[in-house]
Amino acid sequence: MLNNQAIVQAKKQVITQDLPAIEQLDPALIERWQQLFAQHNAVLIAHYYVDPKLQALAEATGGFIGDSLEMARFGRDNPATTLIIAGVKFMGESAKILSPNKRVLMPTLEATCSLDISCPIDEFSKFCDGHADRTVVVYANTSAAVKARADWVVTSSCAVDIIQHLKEKGEKILWAPDKYLGNYIQSQTGADMLLWDGSCIVHETFKANALKNLKAQHPDATVLVHPESPMDVIALADVVGSTTQLLKASQRPEFKKLIVATERGIFYKMQQISPDKIFLQAPSGGQGATCQSCIHCPWMGMNSLERLDSVFDSADNEILVAENVRINALKPLDRMLAF
Ligand code: 13P
Ligand code: SF4
Repeated sequence: MLNNQAIVQAKKQVITQDLPAIEQLDPALIERWQQLFAQHNAVLIAHYYVDPKLQALAEATGGFIGDSLEMARFGRDNPATTLIIAGVKFMGESAKILSPNKRVLMPTLEATCSLDISCPIDEFSKFCDGHADRTVVVYANTSAAVKARADWVVTSSCAVDIIQHLKEKGEKILWAPDKYLGNYIQSQTGADMLLWDGSCIVHETFKANALKNLKAQHPDATVLVHPESPMDVIALADVVGSTTQLLKASQRPEFKKLIVATERGIFYKMQQISPDKIFLQAPSGGQGATCQSCIHCPWMGMNSLERLDSVFDSADNEILVAENVRINALKPLDRMLAF
């Protein structure tokens, strides 16, 4: 382990980046929310990318922080009858598909995802009809309707294993929507994959050349990359994985300094679990940087304590999924959970 002086020294030298702080919430705020959650038989489930204050509140009130797959599982298995999902809409829909008898609320239903937006059901359905010989595998970052059209749903934590399994059965794959994740899975499995042309507006901004330079400045750093990133960025990774897989890797004792290529909200948990380690954001945007290169998902950013305040009173923040869509979306989701 690095000693304190070494860490302070190293941070002075290398870290000028503004990483999310480990939140200390006001005890009165925690108590107020504990009472409200008890009164409504509700639980708060947060993704690693949302405001650290919401993550801290989820932890402090007996809720959960996790990746998209774990959030849906936790919601299904928790006895609360109301699930409050702090994340993006597809996460709320996955929770509803698995827990139809629970009320699923979100701070705002406007929080969506560029992958979900890039894959409207009508176009996607036509694409599937045109390639009826292929097994349809979709990423969890899709609408309930797109899931209902699929044979399999996967998240980044199990995508490679599931496609490997399908390949071994001799199946050809139609993959949507993330082309970068699709390329990565293809490179790992050698499967025959036809890819939809979607991408994550956050992860696609990571830049390989700038990452090479940062690696050269920090040859002792381990590079962790989410597979929604471009292939040349993934090629520089020591570990590629879902948010939870990256978090687990960051805890390995031999990794003391880490360069991380994923949404910056993840640093809340990483720093909390490993306060003695040095974390660096992977560079994004390069010289043409815009506000889209801040490594912060604008839709995840719509979740805030202020918006949570009206979560039980708002008229338009409940996730509803038509029953026929839900039943059809449940099949590929259950297939993944059983895998
Ligand atoms: P995870 O499934 O790894 O949580 O990722 C979800 C996501 O939206 C990544 O950008
Ligand atoms: Fe979607 Fe990217 Fe935001 Fe994740 S980070 S929710 S993939 S836009």
